[in-house]
Amino acid sequence: MSAPTTSTPEATEPEQRDPGAPPPAPEGSTIVTVKIMRFNPELDDEPRWESFDVPALPTDRVLNLLHHVKWYQDGTLAFRRSCAHGICGSDAMRINGVNRLACKVLVKDLASSKGKTTITVEAIKGLKVEKDLIVDMEPFFEAFRAIKPYLITSGNEPTRERVQSVADRARFDDTTKCILCAACTSSCPVYWTDDAYFGPAAIVNAHRFIFDSRDEAAEDRLDILNDAEGVWRCRTTFNCTDACPRGIQVTKAIQEVKRALLFRRV
Ligand code: SF4
Ligand code: FES
Repeated sequence: MSAPTTSTPEATEPEQRDPGAPPPAPEGSTIVTVKIMRFNPELDDEPRWESFDVPALPTDRVLNLLHHVKWYQDGTLAFRRSCAHGICGSDAMRINGVNRLACKVLVKDLASSKGKTTITVEAIKGLKVEKDLIVDMEPFFEAFRAIKPYLITSGNEPTRERVQSVADRARFDDTTKCILCAACTSSCPVYWTDDAYFGPAAIVNAHRFIFDSRDEAAEDRLDILNDAEGVWRCRTTFNCTDACPRGIQVTKAIQEVKRALLFRRV
């Protein structure tokens, strides 16, 4: 038996197809309803749901379904994506009410055991929707930049690399994995009501440098996060940890920064 075809972007480049041909429906696919929260600021007063029926294989990802909608049903649908492999962090969205990367969620993991499957897709919360699934990420990146996410040293250039023990490297290994997708920050109830809060992702990226033995600006970053909108706004709800597609222990990292602030020791 031949392997089922998939509706991956590579396999269905629309410009390579006959314009009169019907949308592709891979062998073995079933129809899934994709219900998308649409918003066009030039036309809509309020966001509105719109449903699309899409042929899908169990191994398709939600991103494949969005491509199908955009390429064959409604080219005005707006969403971000780049790598399609969980690396660039550009396609965080709320899928069935939970923050996820569209390129990492498989249809089979959302399939209904009774009848037709419906998958809801909305923009992440807490950031202004620009169009459909695209939000304004600038406040998120502003908080990221504010915690100085780069190595700071006071000279003493080494002749080779800056040496670090395995144990010292391990202290911040988890927080190096962040891809800045904003799934954590936009899942945080504090952030929903207070957009001045730095948010989990900024704290995670501060953690990555605060606990790096080669860096010399931990005190600066701790002062920044001691602000009224800093680390103490965290209510330890664990939403951020649940949302992180990289499996980062976000809440634990926030707790470690709080502890470093309390004892002024990293
Ligand atoms: S900590 Fe996780 S959820 Fe938050 S921005 Fe980084 S990768 Fe995304
Ligand atoms: S498209 Fe890059 S992480 Fe999903």
